[in-house]
Amino acid sequence: MKIFHLSMECYPVAKVGGLADVVGALPKYQNKMGLDASVIMPWYNNPFFYNHEFEVVFDGFIHQSFHMYQVQVFKEKSAALGFDLYLVKIPGLLDRESVYGYWDESQQFIAFQHGVLHWLSAMEIRPDIFHCHDYHTGLVPFMIDNCYEFQFLKGVKTVGTIHNGEYQGSMDWMMSSFLPHFDGWRSGLLDWNGRINPMAAMIKCCNAFNAVSKGYLEELFYNFQGLEPLMHQERQKAFGILNGIDTEVWDPETDEMLKFNYNKDYAEEGKWENKKVICAEYGLNPHLPLFGFIGRFAREKGADLLPEIIQKSIQETNGSLNLIVLGSGNQEIENRLKGLQYEFNINFAIDLGYKESLSHQIYASADFLLMPSRVEPCGLNQMYAMRYGTVPIVRYTGGLRDTVQDISTGGSGLNFTNPGAEDAVHAIKRALHIYSQKDLMKGLIYSNMSFDFSWEAAAKNYASLYNY
Ligand code: ADP
Ligand code: GLC
Repeated sequence: MKIFHLSMECYPVAKVGGLADVVGALPKYQNKMGLDASVIMPWYNNPFFYNHEFEVVFDGFIHQSFHMYQVQVFKEKSAALGFDLYLVKIPGLLDRESVYGYWDESQQFIAFQHGVLHWLSAMEIRPDIFHCHDYHTGLVPFMIDNCYEFQFLKGVKTVGTIHNGEYQGSMDWMMSSFLPHFDGWRSGLLDWNGRINPMAAMIKCCNAFNAVSKGYLEELFYNFQGLEPLMHQERQKAFGILNGIDTEVWDPETDEMLKFNYNKDYAEEGKWENKKVICAEYGLNPHLPLFGFIGRFAREKGADLLPEIIQKSIQETNGSLNLIVLGSGNQEIENRLKGLQYEFNINFAIDLGYKESLSHQIYASADFLLMPSRVEPCGLNQMYAMRYGTVPIVRYTGGLRDTVQDISTGGSGLNFTNPGAEDAVHAIKRALHIYSQKDLMKGLIYSNMSFDFSWEAAAKNYASLYNY
């Protein structure tokens, strides 16, 4: 079975968040299962392209509105990632450094989808499945069945994965002039509340779709930025499939980004050695419990709650803990955190920016990982934390509900219910109590490291979705 994953991100080519991790791992595991999975994504002006060898497999043109754009497709030669990787370059639109954030991104995403389908139609390459990740590639199911230009691909099965329903790509109908020509009477399939909505179009037109956890799927029926009625209409083809993690990339025993490697039999010692290094680097006392936060400074992640959580937890415990935050993405939160670092520099450190290697070191060194998310479709951080023997403290939502069970009900993490600083601080105090009991803490490290979050189960679930 030939599967094309269409995505804006893929680790290690271009990563903003968990979407990259998923698209960089799932195809690899699918290929190990005997499927034939590849990734098609935009070309970015970043080091990956220059550090790998590519061949041009297609060179052509597409028309968008009154413009003509060149489309070049590059294939990575070695398949070292465990799957074939294709990068689509469209000079003027898909030739930039960042993945998101450009004023013309609606046009960029349309051009990507158009360029991919144009290339495959022209070369008569017909996969069995188009697997579309998030709204950025959500127009593909509509396009292959309704655009004359892609007749060759008509009827190919399409599966959509919702990694984040907060973003839907809604745009004015004026943008329809950028779409490849389609049957006008079918335009209702693109529409939601008088606008073109690629997420809605994906749900309407695909053969089946999934959210990245069962918990999040349930939430989408009553909290989906206005698409709730559509969820009810299309519920027969909606599924929840929990992400896995790449246990080869994320393995504390072999992870080259760690200062000290360890496995679950030597976890206490290994984590202690790593913690000493991080604490020395950031001026923190290694004898205090270390709480980490890693992530985008977005409201969904509860990042706006961090300043209050940090201040209260340090003040209310008389400074008997350390916190370290790695992230970026919101100037106001960054400024408030910088202020707190100045005020509480003995207990609190921040590192602003995107730092893959530091994130691994924090997962390995921290005793607890805090995730006060308001919305969390799956969340990979808690799974990485557990794999590295770090106890997750999570708000009970979406994928966090499906992966972290509270210690009071036999689990090995901590849950809290309300998305606010008060509940989070209460959970941190519970964590301090646990930390003071050496044997309990040791047992939690061991049981967290014993969970199996590998991709095998999810890859099987996707295989049944493809046959839906
Ligand atoms: P999301 O995709 O919503 O951001 P996930 O939990 O699915 O959340 O995945 C986040 C991924 O991004 C993880 O691999 C996490 O380690 C990584 N990450 C987030 N922020 C940073 C950062 N500032 N530096 C390095 N890695 C980060
Ligand atoms: C999104 C979600 C996150 C999920 C990731 C991978 O970015 O916000 O919860 O883990 O996609 O599916």
